[in-house]
Amino acid sequence: MRVIFYTGKGGAGKSVISSATALKLADRGYQTLVISSDPAHTLSDALETDVYHVPTPIIEHLWAVQIDPIREAREAYGAIQEYVVSLFKSRGVDEVLAYEIAALPNMTEFVSLLKLVEYVESNQYDVIVLDTVPSGDALKNIYLPTLLGSTATKVIKLVAPFVNLAKVAEPLVGIPTPSKEVINQDIKLLGVLRKLKDIIANRQVTSLRLIANPEAFSIQNLKRTYLLANLYDINVDLAVVNKIIPDGVTDAYFREWKEAQEKYLAESEAAFHPLPLKKLRLFQSEVKGIPLLTAVGDELFNGEDPAQVYFAGKAIRVQETADGLEVVVPLPTTGSYREICEVERVGEDLSVVIATDIGEARNFIPLPALAHLLKLDRAKLIDGELHIYFLDERGKRGKSGSPR
Ligand SMILES: Nc1ncnc2c1ncn2[C@@H]1O[C@H](COP(=O)(O)OP(=O)(O)OP(=O)(O)O)[C@@H](O)[C@H]1O
Ligand SMILES: [Mg+2]
Repeated sequence: MRVIFYTGKGGAGKSVISSATALKLADRGYQTLVISSDPAHTLSDALETDVYHVPTPIIEHLWAVQIDPIREAREAYGAIQEYVVSLFKSRGVDEVLAYEIAALPNMTEFVSLLKLVEYVESNQYDVIVLDTVPSGDALKNIYLPTLLGSTATKVIKLVAPFVNLAKVAEPLVGIPTPSKEVINQDIKLLGVLRKLKDIIANRQVTSLRLIANPEAFSIQNLKRTYLLANLYDINVDLAVVNKIIPDGVTDAYFREWKEAQEKYLAESEAAFHPLPLKKLRLFQSEVKGIPLLTAVGDELFNGEDPAQVYFAGKAIRVQETADGLEVVVPLPTTGSYREICEVERVGEDLSVVIATDIGEARNFIPLPALAHLLKLDRAKLIDGELHIYFLDERGKRGKSGSPR
């Protein structure tokens, strides 16, 4: 069983590449499901077939499903949402606003992840491809509830038998008590979240693949997702740079675009090292319909099995040290490194300039949130990896008693 997520900013090529991957997988005989939760129905557009909210057969071995986030959210979370709304309303919050607050952040992505559990458990598919963005924030959504999960479930189970009794007390306390339905839905949701976490954390099963375009913002944005995935211990196995103007295009009009793309390609190679990096050319037209998607799949995978785990290691490593935090970043092997010339914070990132035998190379390294609170101490090159140390000068509060 394999679960493959494609992520990247809007328009990067997620729908095209997920559909192309799914077609290629089906062609190799894998029972394949491609899931999209994009309200714009891009899967239907790409495949040029209607895709419904239940798995819709596309070709032999391939099904596609277009998740209806509102329907799914009502099913998984509706009763809980109504309860949360009633809590806010009891505190005088206006109804429209109460519904806004009670809506889960990244609801669309969140419910499509919940559906994933259902499809994995159905045991009907060998590979599930998701054309959905588990952006860094959505990954966080999965993680937090599972951390709370076990305690919350216990508390809820304890409370459940008393709910009807509590109803009696409601007018006295002034806070609405959750109904049995709310509690049951809560327990079910927590159960699904735990299963989801198990699926996503299984590095042999789930991989996240990054889709960048050869432009600055796209790459920077994915570097952050890459870091977060590493922090959450989610396997990232492949990067794709899409929409590269092919060498054959020599029109002077595109000269500067091509030069810029070359620069950003080199930047992506550094940014996503040590992931394997695939390049996909900009086709002559939009990529729509099974024949063109199949052509994309052929160019991307070229006889390989798209279901393989392309890379199993961990890239950026973050570890606590006795006096702070260490961030380890493997460096690409182009040129040999001599020394670190400059290390400074630039916004949320760290800019590191390293002298190599072919000139200076500047790397922007996204930092975990904790590092923002700590003092940058020093950076060292050890065996082709950059080690960055941060000092925790916030006092030893909370750390005392931990073994050193
Ligand atoms: N390699 C390519 N060559 C030509 N056109 C491409 C290529 N990749 C994607 N496109 C086109 O770019 C547009 C955006 O691609 P796609 O819909 O796959 O992006 P997306 O990441 O799914 O976007 P969204 O975030 O809006 O869902 C589409 O019109 C698609 O046909
Ligand atoms: Mg899309």
